Amino acid sequence: MKKKVSVEDLIPGAFVCDFGRTWLNRPFILGKQLIKDEWMIERIRRYDITEVYIDTTRGKDIKKPPLSLADWQKAFGGNDGLREKLAVERSPWVPYEKELEKAKEIKHKAHSFVQELTESVKTGASFDMDMASEIVDEMVGSIARNRDALLSLISIQNKDEYLFNHSINVSVMMASFCKFQGMDAGKIRIYSTGALFHDLGKTRIPDEILLKPTTYTDEEIKRIKMHPQYGKEILNKLEKVDPEMLEVVYEHHERMDGSGYPNGLKGHDISIGGRMVSILDVYDALTSDRPHQKASSPTEVLKYLFESSPEKFDLELLQKFIQSIGIYPVGSLVRLSSGFLAVVVESAKDNLLQPVVQLVYDLNKNRAIPHTRLDLSGDSGALHQIAGTEPPEKWNIDIAACLKIE
Ligand SMILES: [Fe+2]
Repeated sequence: MKKKVSVEDLIPGAFVCDFGRTWLNRPFILGKQLIKDEWMIERIRRYDITEVYIDTTRGKDIKKPPLSLADWQKAFGGNDGLREKLAVERSPWVPYEKELEKAKEIKHKAHSFVQELTESVKTGASFDMDMASEIVDEMVGSIARNRDALLSLISIQNKDEYLFNHSINVSVMMASFCKFQGMDAGKIRIYSTGALFHDLGKTRIPDEILLKPTTYTDEEIKRIKMHPQYGKEILNKLEKVDPEMLEVVYEHHERMDGSGYPNGLKGHDISIGGRMVSILDVYDALTSDRPHQKASSPTEVLKYLFESSPEKFDLELLQKFIQSIGIYPVGSLVRLSSGFLAVVVESAKDNLLQPVVQLVYDLNKNRAIPHTRLDLSGDSGALHQIAGTEPPEKWNIDIAACLKIE
């Protein structure tokens, strides 16, 4: 069946039978094509094409409709023991506002480190591996005191500094994810440091390619796909590099069905570190504003990851990640069944579908309202159920202000 779809809903495996008239001045797109991978969708997007026609008899259909409540329960692996785990994991030792100050310092320190690290690698100078471990230990400490502080900070993105922020975000999420799984301090440090270095190999790729505003050539794509190998080579020259840390760097683009790179590893041939970081890498990339792509909501991205599992991502690990970050992560803008818009300001401590929110907008009266805090797991939960997510820019909602970041 031929149907018109948004490019945003295209998935690899779809067969585009018509690009409309837009191919006339766009030589890359000629006639009918099977969408081979995400790169190809990215290339279409960069030509400012917003809609295409697909033939569902010759390829896959578009993304599926929103997940039902039952689907979400499956996505986070059911409720067995989860309530008890959340209660322990998410009980803060210190108040959010207090930890936020410390979290800002840690993020600032991590930012300076990644900046210096990038320069050192580019100029061939050595860098301080102990500093990376120190920063990761501080991240773990902050998450243990109040996980929402650092996670709030990484939910606010700065488009211009995507590459630096991405390394830090993936590292923070790795620390939180490992801790949630009950890993010991040594393992958390290894995996989180690996996550901080996962894109280090990009320092060997010229900025003209990385920051190119137009579509990549096949040669350039080949070069970019070398970055896991480059990263491994850079780290291999240092002392004190744990083999599991190298796996995180080298395998972060591998996929469960063997469609990833550099080695097309399958299933459990990919290390646990590689399987974890691949989830976090894609989650952060898709929830961030990047030079060529607008951010998607965290919930939409979790849904996409779930639908891509177990083919692309390890389903069991993904379920744990969803349990750890929540279905509506801190910083999400949600629409409530009661007709209000609200910002998630605190992780759910009881039921993943019922976080603590701040009401910000009355849809019935079409106006902003004084901010009111509401714990959806409390008595008000029945009246104010989350019905979906909304893009903050559509409603001009300042998420950072709600999270007291600015
Ligand atoms: Fe990468």
